[in-house]
Amino acid sequence: MAGKITVSVIKADVGSVCGHTRPHPSMMEKCGEFLADGVKKKTLVDYYVTRVGDDINLLMTHRNGEDAKEVHKLAWDAFMAAADLAKEMHLYGAGQDLLSDAFSGNIRGAGPGSAEMEFEERPTEPIMFFMADKTEPSAYSLPLSRIYLDPFTTTGLVIDARAKKGFDFEIHDVMDNKKVVMSSPEETLSILSLLGDTTRYAVKRVFSRSGIGTAAVVSTDKLNLTAGKYVGKDDPVCVVRAQSGLPSVGEYLQPFMDTMLVAGWMRGSHYGAFYPCAVDDSDPTYFDGPPRVCCLGFQLRDGRFQGLEPRDAKPGDHRPMDFFKGSEWDLVRRNSVKASKMVRGHGPFMPAILGPGEMEYTSRPAVLKELVRRFEKLD
Ligand code: 13P
Ligand code: 13P
Ligand code: MG
Ligand code: MG
Repeated sequence: MAGKITVSVIKADVGSVCGHTRPHPSMMEKCGEFLADGVKKKTLVDYYVTRVGDDINLLMTHRNGEDAKEVHKLAWDAFMAAADLAKEMHLYGAGQDLLSDAFSGNIRGAGPGSAEMEFEERPTEPIMFFMADKTEPSAYSLPLSRIYLDPFTTTGLVIDARAKKGFDFEIHDVMDNKKVVMSSPEETLSILSLLGDTTRYAVKRVFSRSGIGTAAVVSTDKLNLTAGKYVGKDDPVCVVRAQSGLPSVGEYLQPFMDTMLVAGWMRGSHYGAFYPCAVDDSDPTYFDGPPRVCCLGFQLRDGRFQGLEPRDAKPGDHRPMDFFKGSEWDLVRRNSVKASKMVRGHGPFMPAILGPGEMEYTSRPAVLKELVRRFEKLD
């Protein structure tokens, strides 16, 4: 079918079983009911309800463009209904990410995270969803830099004529609420000079410079909402399109073979190593982590998701590729636990905990207030 398709992921943590672990299955089912109704009413073309750790991720396709009110409202209503179930079951953090009582036209600023891209579907369109828990949007800055800027990661940057034209990065300054678009390969080192500061800069979008359109989009919502006051984390999702002028599926996965420390573990206040795993293995079972990252893959087929399910499966009824399920990733998982345990050895000391401006919890202002009279000037 001709015409542009929009892929939207809207995600939220609206409650989980025994701490910040995993949503109850009935909450996921409830979201599925809402989205199935969305297909029936033609708001959506297709959907898939999934999760990473305690975050429900609604993967959706539709023809309403980015920021479509009807799509955002559908996701909001689904999360509200799931939060009601969580409240009824006395689950932990019920309604955690729903910051307002009423929907005001767009999900941005209301608590859930969103990543959306509209594009012309190619004859074969592989699409991948990276979903992370217990971390923040700038956790993707290092892997995305390696994918789009580093020819030792993405050989396609050297041998694929279209990828060789480079990529444009839309970078957000989350402290000053500003954005800038920079071009690789010319500005590669300047891009890295910004992105290296993960407390301030995050990648929002990456665009192909050979006319293929948006290559990647990351959810950065909570950061925008609280611009000027860094809140640390947002359990982010990143959607990418692959192959034929874009990085290949394997090139997208490559950087996750290295053990990376990311911010946002335990109480949103610690560094831990990314733990790539299957969705079913994404329950955070060691010190509320280590920060999980999952990756699901589909083909698009006239705006619908096509995974391993039968060709005539109903909308919503999918079996995606679950990339980090493979045994190759056992090595990274072991290294992640080792690295996370090493950092944990520092207890409440930096660099196990985040910098002073980034802690989600801190008692320091209260401690300093108590000590105001007892602090003496040094000679
Ligand atoms: P095929 O030759 O199987 O299409 O693979 C090309 C490719 O890009 C693999 O990374
Ligand atoms: P979530 O952001 O995944 O709810 O985790 C909260 C937390 O701080 C767990 O330690
Ligand atoms: Mg939670
Ligand atoms: Mg979470």
